[in-house]
Amino acid sequence: MKDLREIEFLLSEPLAGRRDFIPYEKAREELPAWKAWEQCQENGAWSYREKPEANLSQPDRRDVTAFRRFADLAGHVLDVGCGPGQRPGYVGAEVDLVGIDPLEPADPDFFYLKAICEYLPFKDGGFDAVVFGTSYDHVLDPEWSLRECRRVLKPGGRLLLWEGQHTKPRKEFDLPVPEGAEDPFHIKKYSVPEILDQFERNGIRVVAHADVRFTERADYVHHFVEAEVPA
Ligand SMILES: C[S@@+](CC[C@H](N)C(=O)[O-])C[C@H]1O[C@@H](n2cnc3c(N)ncnc32)[C@H](O)[C@@H]1O
Repeated sequence: MKDLREIEFLLSEPLAGRRDFIPYEKAREELPAWKAWEQCQENGAWSYREKPEANLSQPDRRDVTAFRRFADLAGHVLDVGCGPGQRPGYVGAEVDLVGIDPLEPADPDFFYLKAICEYLPFKDGGFDAVVFGTSYDHVLDPEWSLRECRRVLKPGGRLLLWEGQHTKPRKEFDLPVPEGAEDPFHIKKYSVPEILDQFERNGIRVVAHADVRFTERADYVHHFVEAEVPA
């Protein structure tokens, strides 16, 4: 585990030995999706444990490599929803990575904080880039999350998004759909035009967008988006 004191300059409050930055009571009160989200997270935790190769960005997968090239991350990078595994394959070893996720990775080789995107425990304007690697569709409140991302990005900072969409109904997991959720893992799946609109409404300008398919998962479309906050 890397020592969080090395990134204290990025935090909004002194560390004081803290490891868990989720404001549970406040989030339960302020975010109507909390209960359904907790159940989606339980389903997710199960699937990441049982099928990590299908759910987490392992470095040798073609889609992961393609997103790494597209994102071209550098500087101080915040990975929102870095996952409970090792360093995601879309973040090169040379990048100064800070990852947040409500699910804790075991002994990560990057700076990890237990946190959620709706309440980022960071100062304004500290990051060169923020990345969502198939995690945007897992958050409690996307627009709230985007406002937080915009706040912690430097002027001119980049926001990179990788979002996957199934073109046929997904049947591989027989898990309960939480009340108020769209499927076992997501409160709501937004279409790409809806996501791009959410970005623009929250002051994040879309600069590039690519749709990619691979023969090995032909019923899955990957959307890569690059956006930036005004300089
Ligand atoms: C499909 S996994 C992707 C993990 C990682 N980015 C990867 O590609 O290997 C989605 C992740 O989003 C996390 N997540 C869910 N809600 C979140 C929130 N509100 N803020 C930050 N991360 C969240 C989940 O715990 C999960 O680890």
